[in-house]
Amino acid sequence: MRNVTPARLIVWLSLIIAGIIAFFSFLMSIIWFEIIWVFPLFSFIIAFLSCFIVFRWGIRQFIEKKVRLIYRTIHNLKLDFKNEAQKVDLNEDVFSKIRKEVIEWDKSNRKEIERLTDQEKFRREFIGNISHELKTPIFNIQGYILTLLEGGLEDERINRIFLRKAEKSIDRMIEMVDDLDQISKLESNRIELSRQRFNLVELTNDVIESLEYKAKNRSINVHIVRSQKPIYVYADPSKISQVITNLIINSINYGKKEGETKIQFHDLDENIMVEIGDNGRGIAEEHLPRLFERFYRVDKGRSREDGGSGLGLAIVKHIIEAHQQTINVSSELKKGSVFSFTLKKA
Ligand SMILES: Nc1ncnc2c1ncn2[C@@H]1O[C@H](COP(=O)(O)OP(=O)(O)OP(=O)(O)O)[C@@H](O)[C@H]1O
Ligand SMILES: [Mg+2]
Repeated sequence: MRNVTPARLIVWLSLIIAGIIAFFSFLMSIIWFEIIWVFPLFSFIIAFLSCFIVFRWGIRQFIEKKVRLIYRTIHNLKLDFKNEAQKVDLNEDVFSKIRKEVIEWDKSNRKEIERLTDQEKFRREFIGNISHELKTPIFNIQGYILTLLEGGLEDERINRIFLRKAEKSIDRMIEMVDDLDQISKLESNRIELSRQRFNLVELTNDVIESLEYKAKNRSINVHIVRSQKPIYVYADPSKISQVITNLIINSINYGKKEGETKIQFHDLDENIMVEIGDNGRGIAEEHLPRLFERFYRVDKGRSREDGGSGLGLAIVKHIIEAHQQTINVSSELKKGSVFSFTLKKA
């Protein structure tokens, strides 16, 4: 009985009833007309066809009525069985099919609930992180202004210093708001990439040059290993420049004083792999899976002067993924880190 389809059931029921009727008409034929085969055969065919049509109609009505509610719930469909997609096919094992669909619906609902719960958690964390990150510069600015108002303004020794410090805190807030704006645009695909063919080596040299002052401050030697030949890739140069800038700044900020940052290009079949490695403090393994999350910082307690708000790598990952490429990190504590990403060759 497991895989009985309604159509088969209708045929069997019609055959049984037609058989019974044919049997009685056979008996009647014997009594009244002596044996005449035509009458029972004729009544068998008529009975079978009538039962088949009536049962087909009745069972379809019955099943459709019963499953209508289920379908309506799981598929969010209107009560409209004129639509072919919603009609019950009597040649199928309808109930097993419905059971399967309900199980799938349940699974997808669970997934959706999990996704929404994660999103809600993420949203709460996100708001908490933003307010936490903004609090520090805002309180600093408030402190500087209060000091200036309470007499500091007239004190030539500190007035300019405090104003400059307040300006630095404002710069930090602007930087963070810009980063957040960029992340939200990248996440909602509102950033159009303007892809073109460009020389990656030249772009990297420009970035190194622009960060020379920062690197010198920590006596870090930033350089490209070997290849000075042009390497052409197809990507958005301004966005890739931002990726390389963020990764080099990190290698300087978290690198060892008098250390080095090595940049290497590897020729893969269709892509170029860029590696940016340092011999700095490194990152413990447990942090690696979460490193590219927004606001994630390894050393939560460090002073605000030492590094940023943990948005840099989130932006980097978004940009690389918008190019349909990948980014990875490998690192060893106290030995250094290597960030590598791919770009399409041109
Ligand atoms: N090369 C590196 N060596 C060691 N730790 C690193 C390196 N790069 C990143 N990290 C760790 O990963 C964290 C996240 O980096 P990310 O660039 O996203 O944020 P950030 O540098 O703190 O702030 P910003 O938003 O200004 O970039 C850093 O806080 C740091 O702890
Ligand atoms: Mg950074």
